[in-house]
Formats: sequence, structure tokens, C-alpha cells
Amino acid sequence: MKQVQDYIRTIVDFPHEGIMFRDVTTLFADPRGFRMAIDQMLHPYAGIDIDKVVGLEARGFILGGAIAHQLSVGFVPIRKKGKLPGRTISQDYKLEYGEAIVEIHDDAIKPGEKVLVVDDLLATGGTAEAGIKLIERLGGEIVSTAFIIDLPELGGRKRLEAMGMEVNALCA
Ligand code: PRP
Ligand code: ADE
Repeated sequence: MKQVQDYIRTIVDFPHEGIMFRDVTTLFADPRGFRMAIDQMLHPYAGIDIDKVVGLEARGFILGGAIAHQLSVGFVPIRKKGKLPGRTISQDYKLEYGEAIVEIHDDAIKPGEKVLVVDDLLATGGTAEAGIKLIERLGGEIVSTAFIIDLPELGGRKRLEAMGMEVNALCA
């Protein structure tokens, strides 16, 4: 039977030379693949108390929305700078291929809320770390972080675990 990783393709030299871009659109487009990914991402959280799912732009919205729906909890987006309409707080960070700033609405997480952070891929961990900092600045407690893909050679898992985070990923 096909596994989650079998639905993901790699695009060489996107968005820059030397980057092996893991493209999950082929996974999302397949009904069995998408369901399998969501079911497997949810698996560690059976019986765990979660108040909010936070998704990291952009593919974290697709996964996080489906996971929040399954958990019957709210969904909160962390977006690239300038996209959220309300009052925000910001955090800058470095990427495998550049720099960016992410933002969250300053009323999106209440102090003490238990948060699951979701994205498609963990590379250097810069994006996830910036997201975690935003949630913690609002007083949220991160229960766990969930990804489809972990690229261990880029150090993201070690970086998040060094912050005391649980990291769950479906494949490398
Ligand atoms: C990708 C991916 C993660 C991030 C991981 O998003 O979806 O969010 O990179 O890299 P990191 O662990 O080194 O931070 P990207 O920045 O390409 O943004 P996009 O989803 O808006 O295209
Ligand atoms: N984000 C950072 N590195 C990536 C990669 N290799 N594939 C997809 N998204 C990424």
C-alpha cells in the first residue's frame, strides 16, 4: 500500500538552485493520501487536551484546518507580514532560502490556552521557532508540533527539541 511519502514529489532547484523542494500538493490532491496524512498527524493527540490549532503559512493552513476540524477546536493562522487585518505582533526569522517576518493577531490566543502547531515541513526550524515565540508571547502553551516532513540534516528537530518542544513528523 502507498505510504504518505509516496505521494510527495521533489522539485529540484526550487525556489533557488540547490534546494530540493518537497512538494506536498500531490499529497493534498489525492483523497487517500490527504486523509492518511491527516489521520496520521492526529494519531499522537488522541485524548490530549488541545484548545487551538495554529497553522503556519501557507501549507500549514491546509493541514491545520483539517486537524482543527477533526479535533473540534479553533484554528489560528500565523501569516507572513502584512496579511492579517487586525492588530498583530511580529517575529523575524531566517529560512533555508531567505529571511521573513511572521505575524499573529494579538487576541488570537488567550493566556494558558493549549496549542498544537502545524506545518507541512520542518527544515531549519526557523519558521516554527518564530511561530512558537509568537504563541508564547501571547501566553499560549505549546502542547506539541506536528509536521508531515522532517528534514533532519537541516537541524529543525534538534532546534525545537532544545526549546523543550515535542516534534512529531510522518516522514523524512
Ligand atoms: C516552508 C515550509 C515551512 C518552512 C520550513 O514554507 O512550508 O513553513 O518553509 O522551513 P524552516 O524550517 O527552515 O523554517 P515557506 O517559507 O516556503 O513559505 P510558504 O509556505 O508561504 O510558501
Ligand atoms: N522549506 C524549507 N525548505 C524546504 C524544502 N526543501 N522543501 C519544501 N519546503 C521547504
